[in-house]
Amino acid sequence: MNKQILVTGGTGYIGSHTVVELQNEGFDVIIVDDLSNSSIEVLDAIEKITGKRPAFERFNLADREKTGAFFENHQNIDAIIHFAAFKAVGESVEKPLEYYRNNLVSLMNLLENMKKHQVPNMVFSSSCTVYGQPELLPVTESTPRKPAESPYGNTKAVSEDIMRDFSNANENINCIALRYFNPIGAHPSALIGELPVGIPNNLVPFITQTAAGLRDELKIFGDDYDTPDGTAVRDYINVVDLAKAHVVAINRLLKTKQKAAYEYFNVGTGNGYSVMQLVKTFIEVNGVDLKYQIVGRRAGDIEKIWADTTYANKELGWEAEKTLEETLESAWAWEKNVRNIK
Ligand code: WQD
Repeated sequence: MNKQILVTGGTGYIGSHTVVELQNEGFDVIIVDDLSNSSIEVLDAIEKITGKRPAFERFNLADREKTGAFFENHQNIDAIIHFAAFKAVGESVEKPLEYYRNNLVSLMNLLENMKKHQVPNMVFSSSCTVYGQPELLPVTESTPRKPAESPYGNTKAVSEDIMRDFSNANENINCIALRYFNPIGAHPSALIGELPVGIPNNLVPFITQTAAGLRDELKIFGDDYDTPDGTAVRDYINVVDLAKAHVVAINRLLKTKQKAAYEYFNVGTGNGYSVMQLVKTFIEVNGVDLKYQIVGRRAGDIEKIWADTTYANKELGWEAEKTLEETLESAWAWEKNVRNIK
């Protein structure tokens, strides 16, 4: 019998790529998603890539009754990977209660059912946003967390604390939080990728939609930062490399190699690239035009961050493999596929 993995938010960007890697690894997957920020067609794409259609149930995990009923009907789950959350930084500032309620109640509903139904393991989608603007770079797991710049970021920090306290209080519950840096790119098949609803908040989907003619021009938010070219620096990690990190974390838990009930790891490449470097690399590798304009800084943005990946490399035995160039090629191939551009 294959191990059963519940992937919440599994029709989303990172979730769908992780489902593919889990299936490639021989796991059986069931997805729970409310489809508030993704589409059911992702299941067809996953099936095309792996030949296996994941099981799927649609409901919001903040619904305690529905979540409890789900676990009553699925008694053989070996681990959960929890992606399902609201994730728009700007929206979270406007609607903090929705963000706290959705993101924290969903997590707590899962954790209480893990205890009730003996589901021992969770891998959680956290974020480097918990570090705020670090004093020292690169960021290690010992870098102190800072007050989040947004309610979204705070839900990630509070979620980590809830998992820490719950797994320390319950002997048979073990959690790993993966602190993502900036996920970008798409599966090499170009059948799944990032498809934000509405105007993209994130840089790379805005770039690809501008190149595809859906947006007039890219606005680069600020070139007066203390960085080599003045634009902000981030650690951009290929989404397939990130998905594989989740499989590694699941195996760590299933083989009980974890060293504490609650662990957390930085998942990045260790390289920092500026917005301008990303733009120029995108144009060069894809041979496309891209209109862009430098404008003022975006509220809430930090100046620069990139990961020290030593701990994840050594302790997890995982490291990012894809180059920025092939990652930006994959992002553009996906956009062209979605927009039927030859
Ligand atoms: C990257 C850089 C922008 C858009 C956030 C969350 C993080 C994670 C990813 C949620 C910044 C600049 C962007 C644009 C621009 N989770 N930019 N023009 O803000 O680093 O991280 O998203 O999805 O938890 O905090 O990512 O892609 O929005 O921005 O110049 O149109 O690109 O100012 O410097 P960010 P981002």
